[in-house]
Amino acid sequence: MSLAGRTALVTGGSRGVGRGIALRLAADGAAVAVNYRRDGDAAAEVVEEITAKGGRAVAYGAPVGDAAAVEAMLAGIASDLGTVDLLVSNAGVASRATLIGDTERSEYQRLLDVHVLGPLDLIRALLPGMRAAGRADVVVISSTTTGKTPKAGAAYTIAKTAIEAAARTLAREEREHGVRVNIVAPGLVATEMGERLVRAAGGVTIAELDAEYPFGRVTRPADVAGAVAFLVSQDAEHVTGQRIEIDGGGPDRALR
Ligand SMILES: NC(=O)c1ccc[n+]([C@@H]2O[C@H](COP(=O)([O-])OP(=O)(O)OC[C@H]3O[C@@H](n4cnc5c(N)ncnc54)[C@H](OP(=O)(O)O)[C@@H]3O)[C@@H](O)[C@H]2O)c1
Repeated sequence: MSLAGRTALVTGGSRGVGRGIALRLAADGAAVAVNYRRDGDAAAEVVEEITAKGGRAVAYGAPVGDAAAVEAMLAGIASDLGTVDLLVSNAGVASRATLIGDTERSEYQRLLDVHVLGPLDLIRALLPGMRAAGRADVVVISSTTTGKTPKAGAAYTIAKTAIEAAARTLAREEREHGVRVNIVAPGLVATEMGERLVRAAGGVTIAELDAEYPFGRVTRPADVAGAVAFLVSQDAEHVTGQRIEIDGGGPDRALR
């Protein structure tokens, strides 16, 4: 129970990677605010799973990027769970698979709102409490795609690259206040988003891809959650401004 006494906010904590992170942080003792955009039933299930095991969690519907909804959520968390000293910025959406030549400004704006501008609003609002906490953490869930710049992925890659730059800057700025800031960058993960991506790219399922991946499987949400749990733990007290890729070491080609 290394996170006993701490309060975590996991954006997009209702499904996929965020769900895995919420469950893990709760298992490690944190009270968890499970944020979601519209699937309240999924968020309620995560809360139920946590409380059934003796943990503490509350669900909050608030689209990241919607200032009024986020403000209401933060007021709710403060009164229900206390000061947030651990933010996992995980909420995210995939971009439409279009070439730059065919991508409208609105698509960049949509991705920047969710992956960059919304998280920066959240961070700005949470920093005073984090600075006062002594130890606090921000973990940004990015993607291995920032180093790959695949075709037809510019809106997503640009957004993830921008939030990584912000995270590294924040790590330098807030170190003196005890705030650690790190980046966890998964490759393909077995979630609804992951399933949609592989279906669109090749008409396959993640189950069909498992055997071809390092260690016999595509990355699972719990793999990402394990890295987050380490980064926010006492063991990582001296770790900030770092980026960990969670993809089993990448495809075999990259390991040779
Ligand atoms: N899956 C992959 O292969 C993969 C790889 C690398 C990085 N990632 C990153 O990992 C993160 C999680 O992805 P995932 O695969 O778990 O996706 P997912 O299965 O589609 O789940 C997305 C989660 O984010 C929430 N969400 C989406 N937009 C939101 C918003 N504006 N405000 C609040 N919550 C929002 C969803 O809530 P609702 O259900 O209520 O909409 C849901 O809980 C994302 O940042 C993604 O870019 C994913």
